[in-house]
Amino acid sequence: MIPSDDSIRSTFQILPSILSSDFCRLGEQVHELEQAGCQVLHLDVMDGHFVPNLTIGPPLVKSLSKGTEMAFDVHLMVTDPDQWTEAFDFPNTRCITVHAEAGCHVHRSLQKIRDQGKMAGLALNPATPLEILEYLWPSLDLILLMTVNPGFGGQSFIESCRGKIASLRKLIEDRTGGKVILEIDGGVHSGNLEELAGLGAQWVVTGNALFSQGQLSRDYRAFQQKGCSAWPGFSS
Ligand code: DX5
Ligand code: ZN
Repeated sequence: MIPSDDSIRSTFQILPSILSSDFCRLGEQVHELEQAGCQVLHLDVMDGHFVPNLTIGPPLVKSLSKGTEMAFDVHLMVTDPDQWTEAFDFPNTRCITVHAEAGCHVHRSLQKIRDQGKMAGLALNPATPLEILEYLWPSLDLILLMTVNPGFGGQSFIESCRGKIASLRKLIEDRTGGKVILEIDGGVHSGNLEELAGLGAQWVVTGNALFSQGQLSRDYRAFQQKGCSAWPGFSS
């Protein structure tokens, strides 16, 4: 059964990014992650305009949805997100995230995603200040902090994002009592995972660090356990 919104929004999750998978063995690796207990898969959609790379589109996500019961977290790195939210509307799709820098009507985009029955996420690039959230709180289910510049897997974590994670954790507690998911994306590895989860990152995307060692289920379980023990949970 596809995990319910309630179960995934209240727990710590490692989200494997299939951008770093071996695409020749994609189905096999997705199955391996599901067997290892993974509940949410992170899907990076890039259009070659908003970011300098092209990745996956609706046909691939549709195929994946037929072969797994994992929930999908769709990260849209595209210039016109409203045009694409319906194309990724599959039963597994639990969350759709648009970039604050991509659309001129962010509030409308979030509303549209909720109208589709999905959790609405907003992604912020490393240079985008948290002030942009001020009038959006009631429309948000998830905030994704980019901890690298979007476009590629395997980049290094941008150090100045540490303080941003801690500040956002506090804002989420103050403004929503912990009801919005704080997700981070980019440059996470076994050496910084505990610290970042400890700062309050509830959903942690991992691509290169998870797929590069050739021990996917072992590493997924180790990452999930490590992050889970470090995550402080909700204060309310
Ligand atoms: C980057 C993507 C990420 C990326 C993370 O634009 O949004 O999801 O796959 O990859 P790692 O963990 O390799 O930095
Ligand atoms: Zn991503």
